[in-house]
Amino acid sequence: MYGKEQNFRGYKVVVGVSGGIAAYKTVDLVSLLTKRGAEVHVVMTKAAREFIGPVTFEAISGNKVHLDVFDSPPGWHFPHLELARIADAVVIAPATAHFIGRAACGMADDLLGTMLLACQNLVFVCPAMNVAMYKHPAVQANINKLREFGYTVVEPDYGRLACGDTGPGRLAENDRIIKELENQLLFNQDLNDYTILVTAGATREPIDPVRFISNRSSGKMGFAIARAARKRGARVILVSGVLHPKPPEGVNLIEVESAQEMYDEVLKHYECVDVVIKAAAVGDYMPENVASQKIKKNGNALTLELKRNPDILLELGKRKQHQLLVGFAAETQDVEKNAKEKIFKKNLDLMVANDVTVPGAGFGTDTNVVKLIFAGGEANQLPMMTKEDLSNIILDNIRMLKKCK
Ligand SMILES: Cc1cc2nc3c(=O)[nH]c(=O)nc-3n(C[C@H](O)[C@H](O)[C@H](O)COP(=O)(O)O)c2cc1C
Repeated sequence: MYGKEQNFRGYKVVVGVSGGIAAYKTVDLVSLLTKRGAEVHVVMTKAAREFIGPVTFEAISGNKVHLDVFDSPPGWHFPHLELARIADAVVIAPATAHFIGRAACGMADDLLGTMLLACQNLVFVCPAMNVAMYKHPAVQANINKLREFGYTVVEPDYGRLACGDTGPGRLAENDRIIKELENQLLFNQDLNDYTILVTAGATREPIDPVRFISNRSSGKMGFAIARAARKRGARVILVSGVLHPKPPEGVNLIEVESAQEMYDEVLKHYECVDVVIKAAAVGDYMPENVASQKIKKNGNALTLELKRNPDILLELGKRKQHQLLVGFAAETQDVEKNAKEKIFKKNLDLMVANDVTVPGAGFGTDTNVVKLIFAGGEANQLPMMTKEDLSNIILDNIRMLKKCK
């Protein structure tokens, strides 16, 4: 679990550095953000490199600095789009008069400008320049244009400038930039009173030391819920089967393999959590006997005797006190009927049911098509949406149900 000093954990911040004398101060900004838990990626303009070397930012952020549209890190085909996509926030510090002008005109003549056009998340622009430049009507008009785009302009401080003049133009103190980020990025922390346990991924039931029985779950849905819950301020315990995608940051990750291990971990934490969201695909059966040596083929058919695994949700339902229980049902037929039966049998509050045969739904996809079915019998069919958007809708409903409890 992480306290206030790590409140940017799980967030990705792209810091754009343009060519102003205050560029050296951005090293400290990157350091502070990193210490607070943010994953920081720095993009530098050509002029910025006249003031400070990329190596410094690389050492402080722990990530390669991005310099050119045509210089892609491995696996990134469109660095400008990739950066815009991953950024929860972009902070341009210092923002030169030149960069502000370029951004106001929508210029895409370098990586920073191009990335900014593609960015749909929060953008913070921190101007720093000589006082006369700052007061020039062209610069002021450009700054106002950026405000119209929805960017937050972190006004420069008043004081003695590097050129010897006094007035507004000093890069805002890092504390003020960070405060602004906190106010907006961490604004919607409506789940910060909750501890949420999420299960994700597929379990593996060993047959022998090299073989196992598993299923097609990728863990993407559970990871998306854990990530969204964390961003909304919840303390998240993520009990995960086999990991395919990168797990979210800032959560208490517990890796398990078999259904029994998942059962043990979930039950261990059950008492101290407010909500359990069971998005994992847990194996219903495990081999009766697990061979200690690799089973050799001998020409005959092999018969495996399977026994039932513990039913985690059923057990949670039996022991339920203050907790809210959310289950997932991946079905191939009679989705609503089966889901309603499970809600009743397992004492659930909400079931997220999907027909995994529907295109865009289910295992391994980035989207899902689900029906939310509530304990009272009410059902709400949702359209196809990203697993991220669906996670937030599930969390909205959990919040509403918790309030009504
Ligand atoms: C020593 C020196 C200091 C500079 N400081 C600033 C500054 O603080 N703010 C600014 O807007 N421009 C400053 N400039 C001018 C910018 O470096 C120049 O406009 C450059 O084209 C900015 O490019 P960029 O916005 O693409 O990084 C300075 C130039 C020099 C030589």
